[in-house]
Amino acid sequence: MKYLKITFILLCINVSVNAQTKGSAWEPPKEAENLKNPYPADAAILSEAKINYNTYCTPCHGDKGKGDGVAAAGLTIKPADHSSALIQKKTDGALYWEMSEGHNPMPAYKQTLTEKQRWELVDYIRTLAKKPK
Ligand code: HEC
Repeated sequence: MKYLKITFILLCINVSVNAQTKGSAWEPPKEAENLKNPYPADAAILSEAKINYNTYCTPCHGDKGKGDGVAAAGLTIKPADHSSALIQKKTDGALYWEMSEGHNPMPAYKQTLTEKQRWELVDYIRTLAKKPK
């Protein structure tokens, strides 16, 4: 019984180490990158998305998406700036995949938010793009 317990603990450690090394590259698979957003932005979509963004994302990413939310200071990795060219040049599918899967300390949202809510957030992130001067 004792050995069984130890084996189980070792197994858990192994699984979590694997998850971390796998997570170090946060690259969406090609199929995910090419997914089309089935919910193109309109006023209703964006107003729902804004509520969800302010509830779930603003604490870290800030209300303008700049990565300066109240919780950002306490994180070892800085939250992405959603208004930046780096994020804006990503495909809808890539952003959808990233928010679904998460990347420690960025939480995964595939359990918390529905597919529609996540696609709406992709539309919302597009509205945060820095305006060209
Ligand atoms: C606990 C803080 C936290 C919350 C809450 C959070 N994020 Fe993040 N987010 C992060 C961090 C930290 C990163 C950078 C992670 C990295 O680069 O490893 C990140 C990165 C991202 C990226 C990827 C940017 C890139 O590099 O490609 C996207 C997209 C994103 N977040 C979307 C969201 C959305 C949408 C929400 C709300 C549903 C959200 N995040 C909520 C902390 C958070």
